[in-house]
Amino acid sequence: MGDTSSNQMWGGRFAAGPDAIMEAINASIGFDKRMAAQDIAGSRAHAAMLAATGILSDSDAAAIREGLLTVLSEIEAGEFTFSTALEDIHMNVEARLKTLIGDAAGRLHTARSRNDQVATDFRLWVRDQIDAAMDGLQALIRALLAQAEAGADWVMPGFTHLQTAQPVTWGHHMMAYVEMFARDLSRLRDARARMNECPLGAAALAGTSFPIDRDMTAQALGFDRPTANSLDAVSDRDFALEFLGAASICAMHLSRFAEELVIWSSAQFRFVTLSDRFSTGSSIMPQKKNPDAAELIRAKVGRIFGANVALMMVMKGLPLAYSKDMQEDKEQVFDAADNLMLALAAMEGMVKDMTANRANLAAAAGSGFSTATDLADWLVRVAGIPFRDAHHVTGTLVAMAEAQGCDLPDLTLAQMQSVHASITEDVFGVLGVENSVASRMSYGGTAPAQVRAQVARWKEVLG
Ligand code: ARG
Repeated sequence: MGDTSSNQMWGGRFAAGPDAIMEAINASIGFDKRMAAQDIAGSRAHAAMLAATGILSDSDAAAIREGLLTVLSEIEAGEFTFSTALEDIHMNVEARLKTLIGDAAGRLHTARSRNDQVATDFRLWVRDQIDAAMDGLQALIRALLAQAEAGADWVMPGFTHLQTAQPVTWGHHMMAYVEMFARDLSRLRDARARMNECPLGAAALAGTSFPIDRDMTAQALGFDRPTANSLDAVSDRDFALEFLGAASICAMHLSRFAEELVIWSSAQFRFVTLSDRFSTGSSIMPQKKNPDAAELIRAKVGRIFGANVALMMVMKGLPLAYSKDMQEDKEQVFDAADNLMLALAAMEGMVKDMTANRANLAAAAGSGFSTATDLADWLVRVAGIPFRDAHHVTGTLVAMAEAQGCDLPDLTLAQMQSVHASITEDVFGVLGVENSVASRMSYGGTAPAQVRAQVARWKEVLG
């Protein structure tokens, strides 16, 4: 097969092997070995199809399929020696197959190219990650539902601008994250449905003259159908970008929640106590219990979104069809997937283990004049004054309470009436935080009854 120092797969037209630097920049085996199982599944499906269509003899196909299982078990057992000279996972597997079964191995690459092969392998890999991320999200959502159910009526301050706004319930706050993570779940589900087409059989870029059966390989690999354009099939990485896009938004959600946990677990807030299992100590300050897991989750969005941007940059401006640039897709996606799974698992663990400090939440809920809106609403409802005027009256009462260093419910009726004559004893009923939250019965509002209804709905959805 020509010069032995040139590549055994494609060295026919080469007189010399590659420079060491060429080999280093060209090889992807260092990372794409992670797709070994997908590569072997794709090759086994391809071999079965080649036999079914009469392109390959049954005995060759059987030897190939069997040999590939041996290769897989060697890889799984850690007994496989990967070779950089063999560039990537596709050629490493094929070369080993040849050692195991001889010349029949050379027939496996009939009617396919590494271009459709890598596109298929990578889709299978990303699809597995989407499934894993969906499992991770569901587990996290369940942990949030448990928190929400336990604390459906625990009052706490709700914030805008991180300033006390109106009282809300712990359950309602947890359920806000359920909504976010459920959208992440549905984004991944959408991406999965769109990506589930099989590129195998697109060959190098133009399809093949062999009478292949693309429906058969698509079905064998769990795809809904084969891709409909061979140029697109080998040059498309939208599936990876959609995964990274959904992962980025999910990581952004995780980051927001992580930030709240960092704030809430501080000595100034004490809204939650994180478990020892998800905290660390300081080597110098004995009193410290640091929310490191939350901080790291907060940071993960950087690399995940970074991967998304990096792959966008790799893909932009690439002419059809395959270009080697696209080999740069994998490390980004691998890293993003690994870190997304880790962040989801860590967040689930933290949520499961954390304790909401109910008394502190309640005390904070009543401070900062959090029921001022309830007072203004009461003036509109009972005294019949326009909301803008009610807002002004309430503002005057807040200033009065602030000057006295007390909360709104601590003002006397006489003091209130000095600001607006139609205020009656009844107003005290709406100044308590429990009443405030219970009154917010509008659909999607913070009333415990609404929260419980949402918990029940999501439990039903998740099954
Ligand atoms: N290692 C390559 C990749 O990851 C496989 C495809 C190579 N195709 C080629 N025509 N050189 O993209």
